[in-house]
Amino acid sequence: MANHKVVCWDCGADVSDPYVNTCPKCGGLLTVKMDLEAVKEMKPADLHKTPLGVWRYAPFMPVDPAHKVSIQEGGTPLYKTEALGAEVGVPGAYVKFEGLNPTGSFKDRGMTIGVSHAKELGAKVVGCASTGNTSASLAAYATKANIKCAVFLPSGKVAAGKLAQALFFGAKVLSIDGNFDDALALARKMSEEKKLYLLNSINPYRPEGQKSVLFEIMDQLQYNIPDRIILPVGNAANIWAIYKACMELKEVGWIDKVPMLTGIQAEGASPVVKAFAAKKNDFIPEECPETVATAIRIGNPVSGRKALHAIYDTKGYATTVTDAEIIAAQQLLGRREGVCVEPASAASVAGLKKLREIGIIDRDEKVVCICTGNGLKDPDTIIANCPGVIKCGNSVAEVEKILLQN
Ligand code: F0G
Repeated sequence: MANHKVVCWDCGADVSDPYVNTCPKCGGLLTVKMDLEAVKEMKPADLHKTPLGVWRYAPFMPVDPAHKVSIQEGGTPLYKTEALGAEVGVPGAYVKFEGLNPTGSFKDRGMTIGVSHAKELGAKVVGCASTGNTSASLAAYATKANIKCAVFLPSGKVAAGKLAQALFFGAKVLSIDGNFDDALALARKMSEEKKLYLLNSINPYRPEGQKSVLFEIMDQLQYNIPDRIILPVGNAANIWAIYKACMELKEVGWIDKVPMLTGIQAEGASPVVKAFAAKKNDFIPEECPETVATAIRIGNPVSGRKALHAIYDTKGYATTVTDAEIIAAQQLLGRREGVCVEPASAASVAGLKKLREIGIIDRDEKVVCICTGNGLKDPDTIIANCPGVIKCGNSVAEVEKILLQN
């Protein structure tokens, strides 16, 4: 489609081969350059005849809607979380609940665009490495598009719900001896040999769809721009996608200030945070990432440099949270707001609490926490951290006795 081109983020070269994932000239990261001239003539409300969701923002997307592969992704709720806000001392706290996407995570935003593009290209096989959500999402969109799908998963570390989804949607589910970074290296090799079309977020079309979460937040807040957006960082493409969306809204003149993008990593998998703390533009990969938030158990984030740029350029921040803080935040959201998110997603809320406590976040900030995935993805972690079921005899008296206990 003529509304964009793929270029190297590092050296600016045009890249025409759709099967390469890095710049053939310098090895740099790729990105999509959108031609937004026509959008400059429009206002946000001009898009409102299409329902809230990824495809409302088609003029910002590098795919012709005629090839759309969609299961109604996006359009997720933005909650004004008053109880959470009171608890952490930030009354203007919101949660964007991405767990209500079709396969239960934000990945569906990128996948509708990525798989639509794969269909445009006539790809015969698509694939990805994944900590779980990307594979669940790709498996669903591939089956919808009737394209064969292979997913490469780190052995033994994928939450049950995510594994079930990939199997259920009929992907070839491959358990790789190693962690996510090892699985991604193999998937990239397959892609370089043109044996599959890679739909990890190193593919520049994926973040294009993920931009839509920022567009939705702006629409849902009637363009009252939040001061800050907080999100978990794993392979680091989502924070880049949100940054890119901000830059494009600025380019078309729809916003004049940009939220401070704030990335949260788990203490045991935090290469981006360490680079931020050292004021570096690049990170040092970690060999053995470990965290209860398996979705972000990543030591060598492909888009780490882009994430650091996004954070610095928006005067944002990056910090770690412990596994205990993640579980406490997950339970706080559940018990006070009735929202069930997976551990990685709770990292954003744990980060909100921590950064308020240490004074990085002011009390009067308007802050949106992005909660990236549904708690039902990982029931084992939830059950392990909740009180057990109560054994109860089959009588009213026994139930009454139990209800009287604290
Ligand atoms: N939250 C959840 C629930 C995720 O699944 C992921 C990434 C992230 C946050 C981090 O996003 O990688 O763009 O920084 N999951 C990938 C996967 C790695 O394979 O599902 P990121």
